Amino acid sequence: MKTLLLSALALPLSQAAAADDVFVNTPKTTLMLSVDKGQTPAIQYYGSRLSPGQGREVHDAMSINSDAYPAFGRDSFDETALSVTHADGNMSTELVVTGWRTEGEQTTIEMRDKKYDLFVDLCYKANDRSDVIETWTVIRNGEKKPVRLEQYASGVMALRQEGAWLTHFHGSWGQEAGMTEEPLTAGLKVIVNHDGVRTAMDDRAEVMVSLDGRPQENSGRVVGAALCWTGNYKLRIETRGKYQHTLIAGIDDLHTAYTLKPGETFTTPTLALTYSEEGKGGVSRAFHRWGRESQLHNGKALREILLNSWEGVYMNVSQEVCEQLMDGIKDLGGELFVVDDGWFGRKYRRTYDDKALGDWMTDTVKLPKGIPALVKAAEDRGLKFGIWIEPEMANSTSELFEAHPEWVVAHPTRELSKGRGDTQLVLDLSNPKVQDYVVSIVDNLRKENPTLHYIKWDCNMSMQNYGSSYLTADRQSHLFVDYHLGLHKVLQRIRQAWPDLVIQLCSSGGGRVNWGFMPYFDEFWVSDNTDAQQRLFIQWGTSHFFPTMAMAQHVSASPNHQTGRVIPLKFRFDVAMTGRLGMEMKPSDLNGEEREYARKAVAFYKEIRPIVQLGDLYRLLSPYDNKGFCSEMFVNEDKSEAVFFCYKFENYIGMETPRWHFAGLDPKATYRLNEFECAESSHNFEGKTFSGKFLMETGIDATLRRQYASRVIRLKRI
Ligand code: GLA
Repeated sequence: MKTLLLSALALPLSQAAAADDVFVNTPKTTLMLSVDKGQTPAIQYYGSRLSPGQGREVHDAMSINSDAYPAFGRDSFDETALSVTHADGNMSTELVVTGWRTEGEQTTIEMRDKKYDLFVDLCYKANDRSDVIETWTVIRNGEKKPVRLEQYASGVMALRQEGAWLTHFHGSWGQEAGMTEEPLTAGLKVIVNHDGVRTAMDDRAEVMVSLDGRPQENSGRVVGAALCWTGNYKLRIETRGKYQHTLIAGIDDLHTAYTLKPGETFTTPTLALTYSEEGKGGVSRAFHRWGRESQLHNGKALREILLNSWEGVYMNVSQEVCEQLMDGIKDLGGELFVVDDGWFGRKYRRTYDDKALGDWMTDTVKLPKGIPALVKAAEDRGLKFGIWIEPEMANSTSELFEAHPEWVVAHPTRELSKGRGDTQLVLDLSNPKVQDYVVSIVDNLRKENPTLHYIKWDCNMSMQNYGSSYLTADRQSHLFVDYHLGLHKVLQRIRQAWPDLVIQLCSSGGGRVNWGFMPYFDEFWVSDNTDAQQRLFIQWGTSHFFPTMAMAQHVSASPNHQTGRVIPLKFRFDVAMTGRLGMEMKPSDLNGEEREYARKAVAFYKEIRPIVQLGDLYRLLSPYDNKGFCSEMFVNEDKSEAVFFCYKFENYIGMETPRWHFAGLDPKATYRLNEFECAESSHNFEGKTFSGKFLMETGIDATLRRQYASRVIRLKRI
């Protein structure tokens, strides 16, 4: 048996096809497939990196041997990845390999149906900097008449291990990214989102499978998978017996049948995979690195400290109010001011959330001199300026809807079901005219304000009123997909025109947190819930797949507007500092002492910003462990600097602070510790030195006495 080595590291360009085993290698991992002409390709192995000779071991061990892209209708009785109705009505498909090739980092396995001119390319891209393998498929209709894709998944992963556990994330408004960890038992586990637009608010499209039992943060073999798609998706994990697990992930197959005309192709979204022996943390770090290196827009640049006007003044924006907020954040050391909702609307003024979406002209009652005057006021203070828009939406009370009722997602014969404010509607982005209009919103803002630095792009409604007056009757089932293909076109055009614009992704909080969006966005709003205690949970879950540099985390007022909880300013800052720090309150509501504290915190954050935003995250103690504590740390790439955070969010008699075991340090190095504004009288570690080995193995007793006590310790190699 010959072995073909396809690697991100040492790749021969365009290799001829004549082999049985294909290795897709990243520096630390191997995905091995067997690929024989005239046969279906099979996954044989996914795990730590194999040497070429080890292909024999995989076969001798009788490992996985599972169909790499199972199609419906012939000999597969399990879950399938592809289901097609051919031009003659035949619903069965039988894919066999016709060849394979590698070009650069990409491996392509070419397949076709044995009897029909339906062609499917199974693609794998091995990322040499991050150990992430991306997989997707390209489906081409070579038949003489249209074919209907009923199910068209992105990719498949097969694993063999009894006692495996699944980690997945779910939530709703204000409680995004809730984490559930459970054993994978026989049957089918389905993670799905049908929202249409806001597809990460409930279930999320990322999972981890821990192969060594209950998931651990920094040990054990774990596979991570993220479907990179902005629309409806479905992840299926089928478990046969106790140990055969097959993950199939792709665009949701409900109400999304897609017709391909002769000659047309469909490229599925990407499924990103990684494998680590360093527990869930290893998977997270691989995804974070992959994100910073190649996915997140501008993933290597530091993010600015901003003040967003929403929780400070809600829709009561005016020149004067904004200038007060600008003065406040400038005084604290911030770098950017963002005016949120409420600045627009002429005929219908945006005084409440029931009108004016779609009318992106300044409300001249609130802002007589328009946005240019706000930009100037910010620049006069040495701040950059940003603005909120919700460009995919309209209110029925808007000039836009009056002019273009046919532009909203709707079925013409039915009464409209409306969202926020009982008036909100979704624009039909499958329509190129609507795409042009959405692009023009950003173009106009930027042309009128050439130094506009930042946009918060919001989306606060699900797709109701299923139907499109743009799509023809026989293509109505394309809407869930074509909406997003239209959105991608819009975002690509905006990015082409304005690559330097910082754009935040927001969707009623974290309702769109998915890797499919990240190439267009610099960061995302983690949640509308800014309560520091609940944020520990939301941020913990979110950090499993998304890098902290992209996680917008704002210090807000106390009592908190969502939960009413009263939490000290230090704790609120310490929680927000583990991502992209910002503020969302009136700085003038802080008293003198608090203002002084906030100045110090902002200055300190600037010092640790490169470590937090560009370093590696090690989650240490989970808030989900029910111990009332939480901790995590960040380590820079050469392990010369780190910063450790710990929090206590419960308090009862007899509650002992755990011993803190650090992670990710150089065991041989000596580190000096410096506490940031430590409020604890005992066990202060200011200026003390320890070896990395001691800190990781033996750990330290940094006590936390009161509820909402927190500590931040900076480490520097000496
Ligand atoms: C959504 C966002 C908030 C804020 C409001 C404005 O809820 O998540 O941050 O921008 O809209 O209406």
